[in-house]
Amino acid sequence: MCGIVGYIGKKQALPILIQGLRDLEYRGYDSAGVAVLDNGKIERVREIGKVDMLAKKISNVIARSASDEAILPKKETASAYAKASADRSAALAVTLTGTIGIAHTRWATHGAVTEFNAHPHIVDGKLAIVHNGIIENYRELKKQIKDKNFESETDTEVLAKWIMEKYKALSIKYKGEDKANLLIDAVKAALVEVRGTYGLVVLHADHPDQLVAARLGSPLAIGIGEGEYYIASDVTPMLPFTKKVTFLDDGEIALINGDGLKISNLDNQIIEKNVTEIDWDQEKAQKGGFENFMLKEIFDQPTVYEDALRGRLEMDAGTAKMGGLNMSQEQMREIKRVMIIAEGTARHTGLIGKYAFERLANLPTEVDFSSEFRYRDPVVNKSTLVFVISQSGETADTLMAAREAKRKGAVVRGIVNVVGSTIARETGAGTYIHAGPELAVASTKAYTNMVAVLLLYALQFGRLKHTSLATGQRILQSLLEIPEKMNEILKRNNEIKEIAEKYQKYVNILFMGRGVNYPVALEGALKLKEISYIHCEGFAGGEMKHGPLALVSKDVPVVAILTKNQLYEKMKSSIQEVRARGARTFIIASEGDEEAKEVADEIIYVPKTMELLEPLLNTIPLQLFAYHVAVALGRDVDRPRNLAKSVTVE
Ligand code: F6R
Repeated sequence: MCGIVGYIGKKQALPILIQGLRDLEYRGYDSAGVAVLDNGKIERVREIGKVDMLAKKISNVIARSASDEAILPKKETASAYAKASADRSAALAVTLTGTIGIAHTRWATHGAVTEFNAHPHIVDGKLAIVHNGIIENYRELKKQIKDKNFESETDTEVLAKWIMEKYKALSIKYKGEDKANLLIDAVKAALVEVRGTYGLVVLHADHPDQLVAARLGSPLAIGIGEGEYYIASDVTPMLPFTKKVTFLDDGEIALINGDGLKISNLDNQIIEKNVTEIDWDQEKAQKGGFENFMLKEIFDQPTVYEDALRGRLEMDAGTAKMGGLNMSQEQMREIKRVMIIAEGTARHTGLIGKYAFERLANLPTEVDFSSEFRYRDPVVNKSTLVFVISQSGETADTLMAAREAKRKGAVVRGIVNVVGSTIARETGAGTYIHAGPELAVASTKAYTNMVAVLLLYALQFGRLKHTSLATGQRILQSLLEIPEKMNEILKRNNEIKEIAEKYQKYVNILFMGRGVNYPVALEGALKLKEISYIHCEGFAGGEMKHGPLALVSKDVPVVAILTKNQLYEKMKSSIQEVRARGARTFIIASEGDEEAKEVADEIIYVPKTMELLEPLLNTIPLQLFAYHVAVALGRDVDRPRNLAKSVTVE
């Protein structure tokens, strides 16, 4: 999600920047841009669409510039030449030659996908910035900025102007040697008052030998070459040039100039950093050092989950505020029913949402496959709130179901990952889950963020009437504790791998859960079947004796979720039933539950949380289990057979 590249050194910056953007394409983006400092002037080209389109536009602009040179008057009169030449440089003369520059691929968050919203943003022709992340208080800052001429709808342009104001204020005070620190000090002064997240790089026409880079929440790596430096969102673009890299940590800011690299924090303390020798090739680097995208995305979860919550929690009121809902409290009270429509993994999150909406908001909630919904005669009306959930935002059945619900007069809201996708656009209002690009076909981090967003929606409705302030606050507190607990589970990756290797030999595997963990069982079964090709099914524990128990034997193991919640004893009985029929059992249990071992051949412990939040944790060992079984079987986990990431056909 968004990519940054910067270069300062002796080589021409442009080819390095463009290649760097190509190397970051895997992160996903919808527009791109580049700015180079050329003879004291910042030249910029931006384009919506692919980096190829940006490169083509740059070639055209440069060619046009060159041909204009050819058709300049033949110095008949000095003044005619000077005028034509000045006009040309003002309008067209973009050569993008220069040895310092910054570039960006943008994944739209604030503002549509347009050239004006693309980065780099430039202020007064002097200061250029590229930025990843979200400036949460950009509206407040915007009000304080004197220059009201905004070219874009972005939070980044606000940040750029904010830095420029600080720069102008400091430049009055700074004399002599101070000037060397003017740019970095202006950036520091601006960032002290910023709330939100950023990875950013700034250049200034009056500081042609400097780049300033800062990080809070959005990664930035700095590659160290011979008298040159590379900056990027990850190490991929710098690997052809250098393997020596230092990584900025949150709160750190770097000044890169002729003297080298100086890193400090916003309180001006100098920070000594380690330089790491990277031994990855580029492909491995794109995967963050993981073997494939699926594993990377599983491990991304604690981080991207925080992006789903960011700016949406109101701790004092014990509620959530989902900007995309676009409904007054009065309109919310008019809602009498909730329907959730989605496919596959997204539908499983809807099943979890059902428990949350019914428990917290007392709203009857129905969940359906988009493909079924669109062909039955669903009873919806203006008091039905329909959530359509989709990672890609392009799933044909879900899109058609959204249109059908709209046609019938329901209130339709999207819960989508890919910004600007069809479902996001057509539902108009709704929420992005901010999971970042999900490249493995099997969905993992999008699932987690969909669950988080549904919980927040349920809480927001719940707090209108049914859920108390204390419960609301407890839920928010528990939501905030989730990333640390996810990390605890991820540390057990090797244990899970060892268990998975024992299960690769089976032809059929069943999954069982109850209550909020029933959808977790469905998701565990789906994950394993789609990437390992082992036949797997998920069942509700209480349903086993109504049919599925007939499948159980010593050759059909059962994976069961037995965490400590109100259905613990019931679930344990269901596990005993399958064990009595010879099944081997792999149990997901709550930390400290020694009793669970009685019904387990294999066991993985997960930290405790509130019952409604359990799927955020309990699904992770099942994702890792599926992953390791598939790897043990030699499957192509990122691209399983017969499946596509975005199902745009019925
Ligand atoms: C499973 C998986 C699919 C998708 C389903 C819906 O891992 O990825 O089941 O969840 O095809 O896709 P989206 O969410 O893009 O609508």
